[in-house]
Amino acid sequence: MWHQGPAAAGAESRRDAAAAAHRQSGDSADDDIARAAAAFVDDRSNAVSGFDYVGGELLAEGVPLASIADSFGTPCYVYSRALLTAAYRSYQDAFDGVPHLVCYAMKANPTLAILDLFAQLGSGFDIVSGGELARVLAAGGDPAKVVFSGVGKSDAEMEAALAARILCFNVESASELDHLAAVATRMGLRAPISFRVNPDVDPLTHPYIATGLKDSKFGVALADAHALYQRAAKMPSIAIRGIDMHIGSQITDLAPYREAASRMLALVDALVADGIALDHVDLGGGLGIRYRDEAPVTLSDYAMMVRALFAGRRERLLFEPGRRLVGDAGVLLTRVRVVKPGASRSFAVVDAAMNDLLRPSLYDAWHAVDPVRPRRSDAARHFDIVGPICESGDFLALDRELAIAEGDLLAIRTAGAYAMAMSSNYNARPRACEVLVDGSSTHLIRRRETVDELHAHETRLPS
Ligand code: LLP
Repeated sequence: MWHQGPAAAGAESRRDAAAAAHRQSGDSADDDIARAAAAFVDDRSNAVSGFDYVGGELLAEGVPLASIADSFGTPCYVYSRALLTAAYRSYQDAFDGVPHLVCYAMKANPTLAILDLFAQLGSGFDIVSGGELARVLAAGGDPAKVVFSGVGKSDAEMEAALAARILCFNVESASELDHLAAVATRMGLRAPISFRVNPDVDPLTHPYIATGLKDSKFGVALADAHALYQRAAKMPSIAIRGIDMHIGSQITDLAPYREAASRMLALVDALVADGIALDHVDLGGGLGIRYRDEAPVTLSDYAMMVRALFAGRRERLLFEPGRRLVGDAGVLLTRVRVVKPGASRSFAVVDAAMNDLLRPSLYDAWHAVDPVRPRRSDAARHFDIVGPICESGDFLALDRELAIAEGDLLAIRTAGAYAMAMSSNYNARPRACEVLVDGSSTHLIRRRETVDELHAHETRLPS
């Protein structure tokens, strides 16, 4: 009845079998959960899913989601530390032996504790604003592992990043190069740069998140890049370090990467022939994940392709994954407030809304919805899962067959990426809290906003 990837299904069947055995021996569901929690802690290195059903209810690692809702309220984002760690390690494993740096694209989930975790694992960061730089520094990230992307960096943002001694600016226009050179000259520094090139390849994804087509606002045209490198090479306040691309997001096919990287490497070779050697090649992010029935590229296939393309080359590889590191590692926990019959199907009005999770409204994105304590499935009906916001576009999931009643808890899956990150206060709704689960412990990593805090930056008219 509920959606799962194949890896999760393996873990679940193991635990469900264990739970069934306990039930037969007369143990309670609570015992099952306690055992699952203990087993999880023992077995963490092999964990492939942080969100499994045990004893008839959905857990985050070893903690029942229902108890998280009791302690912290809903709506609430819940993350699994084990899944976050496993996602990072799988990149490291895939590129074992290849000089590389993973720069987590923190826009996907910029909560301090998440950044802290990745920093502790050794990750670098891809940032797109001065605010993101400040977050990396506040979370203990290493500025020497930071790359700065973005089409509209301000002089103040450039100054802050230069002062922090970041690894590289991914320059996206000739104008940005001039601004950066001027800022660096003023500060008596040399700015390390890459050009973000636009390889004009269709990444076969949602048009809002395709970024490497020739009409896109991002990067410089591949045809213009050589001349820009020659110009930059003559600027005393600029130090050429690399080249960069990012062709889009939620990409589930290797071919666009292969094509784009090959085009970029042809330019790198032409630059070398011209005496302009690069330290690194940044392949961007964009690898997709499974929300529904997508068949994402495996990291081993991706790594095999990249290793083949880069065999015999000297440049270090940089990657900027966002979604792939955090997407699977989070759920949005929400409670059903109202069940309401509609003309063709019923509405379940929940306490989360489009301000908490915008992806369904903005991109028609599909997120699996699972009951935290499933009821008998023969009572299932067709529901639209909607929020309380005054817009018909305020939906989280459409036409799902579920058995639910008022007061039930639902987990909206695959909500670790671009979920809390894109939340807002629309309809004067305080933003959700966030909880990180680590084995059998929970950490409140962001408390729920209060209504008073929503007014804190405003004033009434002078009287
Ligand atoms: N590098 C750059 C320069 C980017 O602009 C992005 C994402 C990434 C890396 C990371 O891409 P990822 O590995 O996460 O696909 N809000 C949309 C996604 C927007 C992606 C923006 N750029 C969504 O919810 O699907």
